[in-house]
Amino acid sequence: MLYEFARGMYRQSRKILRSLAYRSRWRGKRFRISPTSWISMRATIRAERNSSIEIGKDCEIHPFSMILSYGGNIKIGDRVSLNPFSIIYGHGGIEIGSDVRIAASVTVIPANHVPPSDQLRLTDSGLTMRGIKIGNNVWIGTGARILDGVTIGKNSVIGAGSVVTHDVAPNSTVVCAPAKKVS
Ligand SMILES: CC(C)(COP(=O)(O)OP(=O)(O)OC[C@H]1O[C@@H](n2cnc3c(N)ncnc32)[C@H](O)[C@@H]1OP(=O)(O)O)[C@@H](O)C(=O)NCCC(=O)NCCS
Repeated sequence: MLYEFARGMYRQSRKILRSLAYRSRWRGKRFRISPTSWISMRATIRAERNSSIEIGKDCEIHPFSMILSYGGNIKIGDRVSLNPFSIIYGHGGIEIGSDVRIAASVTVIPANHVPPSDQLRLTDSGLTMRGIKIGNNVWIGTGARILDGVTIGKNSVIGAGSVVTHDVAPNSTVVCAPAKKVS
């Protein structure tokens, strides 16, 4: 009885401490993160002013993954997992549906530098940004890179190490760089 009570108190205090830690970490930023999602304290979630990050219900954001808004809006649906060393950048905007699995070391990057020239330094050339959409029920294999302007249709599989440069039709499996449909 006493043990149960102590265990309950311990769990409750952990919840309170965790929610205080989350709040102080994200104070003043435009975050909407479901309390039923698990965000590792070793994950990095960063939004600047005029950008936002939304994470739906029952998501898992694993250690050493990063969600960085870079001035854009990132919207993640329900039951999405982001595995270690994966990075989601916000730049031109990211929409990720529900039930999406993102394996380790994936990069989703909705921006390109404007190529430099003798007259234009790369640091002054600016960016083009179109945004990326990932549908429901998509599995992104380890090491894949999803580039700007791409829409990945629902129920698709992106093979390990793929570089996705064009839209992926719903219900397809794509592999390689650039990613091509295999089924
Ligand atoms: C894409 C994948 C799911 C396999 O899909 P599949 O439909 O079963 O495809 P197959 O294994 O029949 O392979 C079809 C062809 O694509 C090739 N292929 C499969 N995956 C590939 C990949 N990631 N990169 C390049 N080629 C690949 C196969 O060699 C085969 O080519 P072949 O016909 O010339 O022999 C799998 O290979 C993959 O990449 N899985 C990701 C694993 C992962 O990241 N796990 C993390 C868990 S969260």
